[in-house]
Amino acid sequence: MSRSVAIVGGGVIGTSIAWQAARRGWRVRLYDPQFAASPTSIASASWVAGGMLAPLSEGWPGEDDVLALGSASLDLWPEFGGALEAATGLELFTSSSSLTVALDTADAQDLETIAEWVTAQGRELRILSRSEVRDCEPSLGRGVRMGLLSEAERAVDNRLLLSALRSSAASEGVECVGESVSDVDALEADQVVIAAGTGSATLWPGLPVRPVKGEILRLRTRPGVTPPPTRTIRASVHGRACYLVPRADGIVVGATQYESADTQVTVAGVRNLIADAETLIPALGEYELHETSAGLRPMSPDNLPLIGRLSDRVIAATGHGRNGILLTPVTAAAVVALLDGSELGEAAAADPSRFRLKERELSR
Ligand code: GLY
Repeated sequence: MSRSVAIVGGGVIGTSIAWQAARRGWRVRLYDPQFAASPTSIASASWVAGGMLAPLSEGWPGEDDVLALGSASLDLWPEFGGALEAATGLELFTSSSSLTVALDTADAQDLETIAEWVTAQGRELRILSRSEVRDCEPSLGRGVRMGLLSEAERAVDNRLLLSALRSSAASEGVECVGESVSDVDALEADQVVIAAGTGSATLWPGLPVRPVKGEILRLRTRPGVTPPPTRTIRASVHGRACYLVPRADGIVVGATQYESADTQVTVAGVRNLIADAETLIPALGEYELHETSAGLRPMSPDNLPLIGRLSDRVIAATGHGRNGILLTPVTAAAVVALLDGSELGEAAAADPSRFRLKERELSR
C-alpha cells in the first residue's frame, strides 16, 4: 500500500509538491477552498503574481543564503518548466532575460554593487551603458542611464503555470479537494504539508509568516502601439520598486508593497504603478488597462522561506514572500526529499528551526 500525503494549499507551491510526490508513488490529496471558485475570483499570490525569476539582479551583499536558494531554483527552472510544457503543450516562458535599469546616480551605484557581488559569487551579470540599454530595448524612456543585464533570468506566465501544474498533478492521480482545512491533526494521511501561504500561521501557530499586500496591473497591447519589451524590465522609480514582465498579449506591471492584509486595489496604488511604468516605457499609456488586482505575499522575517519539518508528520513549505514562483522547483524538490526521508542540501538555510520555534510549536 503506498503512503499518503495531504497537502494544504493549491497555489504553485502546494500543487508542484503534489505533482512531484504523486510521480514518486505517493497517494496525494490537495486541499484548497479555491478549487470551488472561478479562476477570476482568485486572489491568491500565485494567481496575482508577475512571474519574474530574478534572484541575481535582486541580489544584495550579505544576502548569501537568499541568493544561493534563488540561484538553485533558477537552475532547476529549464527542466521543471520544460517538463510541464511538454506534458501540457502550454508555453510557460514569456521572456528569457532581465534588464534592471538605473534612472539616477544612486541607482547606477547600486547596480555596480549588485554586479560586483553577484559576479564574485560565481554568477554572471553584465553592466550596460546607456546606449547599449537603448539598443537592447528601444522602447525605454530617455531617463535611463545604465543597465544590468542578466541573460539567465527568465519569466513565466504564472497563470499558465498554475494551470499546467493542476493538469499535470491530475494526470498523476492527485485528488483535489475544494475544502478549507483548519486542523492538520484531523487530516487522514501519513504525512501533511502546509503550503497555505498567508494562511499557514493559522494551521501551525507560531509559524512566522505574515501577509504583505501587493497590487499589480495587467496591460494588453492594442493595434498600432509600440510592442512590449522582450525582456523583464526592473527599476527603482522614486524609491519604489517597479517591474514590467512580458506576456504573450502585453505586459504585467508590479508591484506595490504594504504591510496590510486586505486585497482591495487602491487608487494611489494604480496611479503610482502607471506613473512608474510610463517613466520606464512612455508608450505604455497607449495600452489597454486590462486588469488590476491585489494579492497577499506570505512573508517571513528574513526573506527566506520556511521549508522543512515541523514534526515527524508535518512539513512546512511556506513563507516564500516575493519569490514564490521563482522558488517553486527547489521547494518541490526539497519537500519530496523530506517525504522520502532525505534532505536537499540547497534548502538547508530555509529550515524553519532557524526561528527557534518553541518546543510545543515544533512537535505536536
Ligand atoms: N514577485 C515580485 C513581487 O512580489 O512583487
